[in-house]
Amino acid sequence: MKSIYFKFVTIYTIIIVMGFLIFGTILNNLTENYFISQKQTQLVREAEKIATGLALWYITGFLERDRLRFEINFLRDYLNASILMINRNANVVLNSDEQVFINDSILQRIRDKVFSGNIAVEKTLIGTIVKKEYLIIGYPVVINNQVVSGLLLITSTDDIRQTLRMYNRIIWLITLFEVILVLIITYALTQKIINPIKKLASVSRKIAEGDFSEKIPMPLNSNDEIGELIASFNYMTEKLENLEMMRKSFISNVSHELRSPLTSIRGFIEGILDRTIPDEKRDFYLNLVREEVIKLNNLINQLLELSRLEWGKINLNLSTFKIYSVIAEELIKFEKRIEEKKIEVFLEVNENLMVKADRDLISRVVHNLLDNAIKYNKVGGKIYIYSEVENGKAYITIQDTGIGIPEKLQKLIWERFYKVDESRSLEKGVGLGLSIVKEIIKLHKQNIWVESEEGVGTKFTFTLDLK
Ligand SMILES: Nc1ncnc2c1ncn2[C@@H]1O[C@H](COP(=O)(O)OP(=O)(O)O)[C@@H](O)[C@H]1O
Ligand SMILES: [Mg+2]
Repeated sequence: MKSIYFKFVTIYTIIIVMGFLIFGTILNNLTENYFISQKQTQLVREAEKIATGLALWYITGFLERDRLRFEINFLRDYLNASILMINRNANVVLNSDEQVFINDSILQRIRDKVFSGNIAVEKTLIGTIVKKEYLIIGYPVVINNQVVSGLLLITSTDDIRQTLRMYNRIIWLITLFEVILVLIITYALTQKIINPIKKLASVSRKIAEGDFSEKIPMPLNSNDEIGELIASFNYMTEKLENLEMMRKSFISNVSHELRSPLTSIRGFIEGILDRTIPDEKRDFYLNLVREEVIKLNNLINQLLELSRLEWGKINLNLSTFKIYSVIAEELIKFEKRIEEKKIEVFLEVNENLMVKADRDLISRVVHNLLDNAIKYNKVGGKIYIYSEVENGKAYITIQDTGIGIPEKLQKLIWERFYKVDESRSLEKGVGLGLSIVKEIIKLHKQNIWVESEEGVGTKFTFTLDLK
């Protein structure tokens, strides 16, 4: 839990700090350039005024040196800049602040520029112990198109630096604020993700131990991925619970189906052994025992077949064959029962209809459907078997005039061990026949369906691929 939150916060903090670092540097540079160039323009303007005014008057003798000093001192305070004048040899001839000392090489450079008639702009560090940055403007004083002197304005850029420092402080404050905000928002967000995940983990553990009772409550805003996950998870739990219930009922069904024949077998054998059954009736009861054993054998065979089908261990052994001959073969096996029940069979399957399927498995399908059609038919009833071809598929129908299946039970008959009210028929089944049929048809990727009306009859139709 801690780790997801921690990861998010680390990533976001890094992004924010980096962002502000880049943003701050760019802003710093931009504002610095802007302020300095502003100051520069202002000083150049002032320098021009002085160079064409005071300085010129002084050089041409209109202004006394003392008077000039006074004016210059006044201007220095007003402009917050030192004012200097230099001659052609780069000697300072006038200085408003005696302590201002400019490096010789810079002074030379300014001189060169100014005496060739240009404006000089220099940024330099001045100071003996604590160096400060200064901006120097050099302006030519001109008489008759001749540069006679250079006027220098020198000002510290400290105030600009101070403003920038304040800007930086604000930027860092905003960054800090953002990081705190991210901490809070990420916490709330991750909590929304982490809580359901923790719940998922604990419920998963319970399911693994066979406890399906707990469902995960849907979160308030459930139309996101988390909501989707929880919905699927709950759906899975439900399905697993169903499977578990099916497994349990399967076991209890199997035990039940095994117990009744075993109980009768045991009863008969004990009767024979302790002579409760008289000797002359012995064969009769032994025959009953044999029938029960056959039933048990049948049950086990069907269970095995079903489990093989369900485990998908069966490889379809596809061949092309006449569906007619399969049906005819199966009918012969039921000859005796058909006669006993006086059932009339109408076989109207196209004799030349070739299908492609696993012949043995389709025989099982036909066998089980015929078995039901006879078992659940009335004495003197009818069975119709016919085929149709449509859209490249064969449709095989086995229809009887038996007791029928109530509408709402029709979808249950495919389930293992499902039997519609056992008292309806004299012959008893185990309820596995149609499950086997369904699995075989499913393996073939074909369809089977039932249409039935109570008291009228039942019709099973399945499809097969044509040759
Ligand atoms: N042709 C039919 N007519 C009426 N009921 C049928 C028919 N076929 C199947 N059923 C019903 O469906 C149930 C399931 O069939 P099946 O799986 O073959 O089991 P079984 O034949 O062993 O009872 C049967 O118990 C029966 O009630
Ligand atoms: Mg059956």
